Amino acid sequence: ESAEKGGYDCFMEKEIFEQPDGIKHTLERRLDESGKIVLDDIHIDKSYLDYINKIYIIACGTAYNAGILGKTAMQKWMGIPVITDIASEFRYNQNFVDEKTLVILVSQSGETADTLAVLRDSKKKGARVLAVTNVVGSSIAREADDVFYTWAGPEIAVASTKAYTTQIVALYMIALNFALEMEKISEAEYFDIIDKMKEIPSKVQEVLDNRDYINVIADEIVGSEHAFFLGRGVDYALAMEGSLKLKEISYIHAEAFAAGELKHGTIALVEDGTPIISIATQQNLFEKMVSNMEEVRARGAYVVAISQKHNKEVEKVSNRVIYIPDSEDILSPIIAVIPMQLLALTVSSKRGLDVDKPRNLAKSVTVE
Ligand code: G6P
Repeated sequence: ESAEKGGYDCFMEKEIFEQPDGIKHTLERRLDESGKIVLDDIHIDKSYLDYINKIYIIACGTAYNAGILGKTAMQKWMGIPVITDIASEFRYNQNFVDEKTLVILVSQSGETADTLAVLRDSKKKGARVLAVTNVVGSSIAREADDVFYTWAGPEIAVASTKAYTTQIVALYMIALNFALEMEKISEAEYFDIIDKMKEIPSKVQEVLDNRDYINVIADEIVGSEHAFFLGRGVDYALAMEGSLKLKEISYIHAEAFAAGELKHGTIALVEDGTPIISIATQQNLFEKMVSNMEEVRARGAYVVAISQKHNKEVEKVSNRVIYIPDSEDILSPIIAVIPMQLLALTVSSKRGLDVDKPRNLAKSVTVE
């Protein structure tokens, strides 16, 4: 087993460090020589895209968190309503799946019971099902109408890392491709985003190279009972993933909040020293996040900000800042999640826990 870990202490660490290559792989498998996205095995064309009236993105756990980012990209570029839901909720609630619905299922393993059940129900209702999965030949891959494989390579650690970042890349590529088909974005915009996506692996590597700083922060929160993650827009979706990572492997009670909800209850939880990881990567929401950080800091929170290098203003309202390389707003989550993965990993191992096999959790939930 130690040989399989390739010199890393655990699989999660190895998989975190595999992300630059994993993301590159996801991209390269679907780009042709001219730099265009190729989805020719996915039988969805302009007339179908013009015919449907909504998209549902359904998943569980980390895959659901990736799905929310997919929704943002699809709404932005394709201009179509996209609804995201957790598979175990969606299947038992009233939904509006019909033949005018594209259902996109996101699943690393392709075996999650609730997600598979949604697939079968949706097909019965006449919807087309597109799966985004990592495991070739999995149940979801076999039963879906179309499959986009993420090609992240095997993910062993229970806490998902490279599956998450490659799922986002996959969903963004689907969104871009469909948007171009639908003539909702220009070729110039399309190629510009693809070019920026190609820069992500080296930006992720840059964050990984600065790992030592995460150690300092981990030391400061390792004894905490609670931790909160704040963000707005895509940073809120990212906060959900950051809090899931921390809670599942360190057992620190972690929750994510939309920063705009602070005043509606959350702020009552802030005590002296409460760690609050505040993500501020969205330029249009930056000032709002700075004022949220100021509010929690004034109440004694230990604020860790995650933001781009030029946003020096965060230094005034936080105890620690993790800077990430600049990128297009919508692409920033793929980079900003890396320090949160490293933080969860470091806190878990400082607590002497089994990082790869957290208690009570399974890699794939194949029963309800
Ligand atoms: C479990 C795993 C998570 C994963 C979720 C959904 O909870 O521990 O890492 O995100 O299942 O799994 P899937 O294979 O469908 O992505």
